[in-house]
Amino acid sequence: MNVGIDSISLCVPESYYSLADLAEKHGIDPNKYLYGIGQEKMAVPSPDEDIVTLAAGAAKPIVTDEVRDSISTVILATESGVDQSKSAGLFVHGLLGLKPNCRVVEFKQACYGATAALQMATDMVRQRPEQKILIIASDIARYEQDSQGECTQGAGALAMVVSANPRILNLHRARGMHSFDVMDFWRPNNHKAAQVDGQLSIEVYLESMRQAWNEYKADGGHELAELPWLCFHQPFTKMAKKAFTALTESEPEQGQALTGESYEHSLLYGRQIGNTYTASLYIGLLSLLENNPQDLTDQNIGLFSYGSGSVGEFFSASVVPGYREHLRTEEHQQMLADRQALSHEKYSAWFYQSLADHKNQVMPKLSNRPYRLEKVEEFRRVYGVND
Ligand code: CAA
Repeated sequence: MNVGIDSISLCVPESYYSLADLAEKHGIDPNKYLYGIGQEKMAVPSPDEDIVTLAAGAAKPIVTDEVRDSISTVILATESGVDQSKSAGLFVHGLLGLKPNCRVVEFKQACYGATAALQMATDMVRQRPEQKILIIASDIARYEQDSQGECTQGAGALAMVVSANPRILNLHRARGMHSFDVMDFWRPNNHKAAQVDGQLSIEVYLESMRQAWNEYKADGGHELAELPWLCFHQPFTKMAKKAFTALTESEPEQGQALTGESYEHSLLYGRQIGNTYTASLYIGLLSLLENNPQDLTDQNIGLFSYGSGSVGEFFSASVVPGYREHLRTEEHQQMLADRQALSHEKYSAWFYQSLADHKNQVMPKLSNRPYRLEKVEEFRRVYGVND
């Protein structure tokens, strides 16, 4: 039985901040951000947007009436959650009107959480094929202003329904994991912005990928030459380029056959959005499927997921015939094209407003996405539906 991704949908904030403007503010050559880091824009949430509104906005188009009653489980993966106890997925469950006979949990392991969700969902569907599982990766990547990491911020959510006989991607059984305890990137409970050892994080990412790749092959995975398309976790798109180089160098004979084309289409959305932590790999996958002009039917895609701290996993999937009919390409491309640019003043003001700890606050009406944070009452978050 084939199991995998049956539908997939993206939601990003309506505003972005240009990295050329950030470079000007930092007094450095914009090419460092545009080419050295490989980012053009960072998505910036308004104060009435958060990981819940983005998650619900991503899931809404694929939770159709037909799908709603088959959803047995919602797994929301995030490393920028809104509550230390309550799963953000429960707010989404309410907003989308999902059935009460449903389990809802939140997964956390830095940027890796959605991959744990996807693999566990796949195993659950193999056990009980009548169910569908909704996975949502939703994150707001925040670093201190004027820090090294500021240029790698971003925000967005990606939702996927996992089912038997999926219409987009069949996931393969082979998987290679690599976990070890390292402090390359972390966010203590009393911090809203991430702490990072930037250069160490890059080294650890690449080492994790080499080890996970070896485990994937040992688990009966494909040879590199059998994976014409590749997607890597992309905290910034240059990182995917570094990962491609490291992977092909680790398999010199097969790696020679692969060119940059194998991953370049996976970078197009990320370059316009920035880091979305848990969603980043899957936005890369979506970008490949929606932007590659070639027909990818029956072709294999190799994927590498990385979450600092750290867990890496290499896995693969193959594209289902007719996949294009089930993508929402036009809608996603329009959503990215229609965003508004922010001035530095507005970007900076929203950054600090979003970090505030509200006890009681009515949020200004800024977002026109399907859902917004309306207010906070005695620390309770209250979400609303935009008309
Ligand atoms: N024109 C073109 N390129 C230029 C340039 C110019 N004028 N000036 C510099 N560059 C290039 C540099 O040569 C360098 O390229 P290479 O990496 O290919 O050598 C690139 O721009 C970046 O330059 P620096 O290394 O000097 O950049 P930096 O020290 O300011 O910081 C960073 C880069 C470490 C990625 C930092 O932005 C950061 O800490 N980001 C957050 C952490 C992160 O994203 N880590 C990734 C791995 S961890 C992970 O994946 C989990 C996650 O999501 C966080």
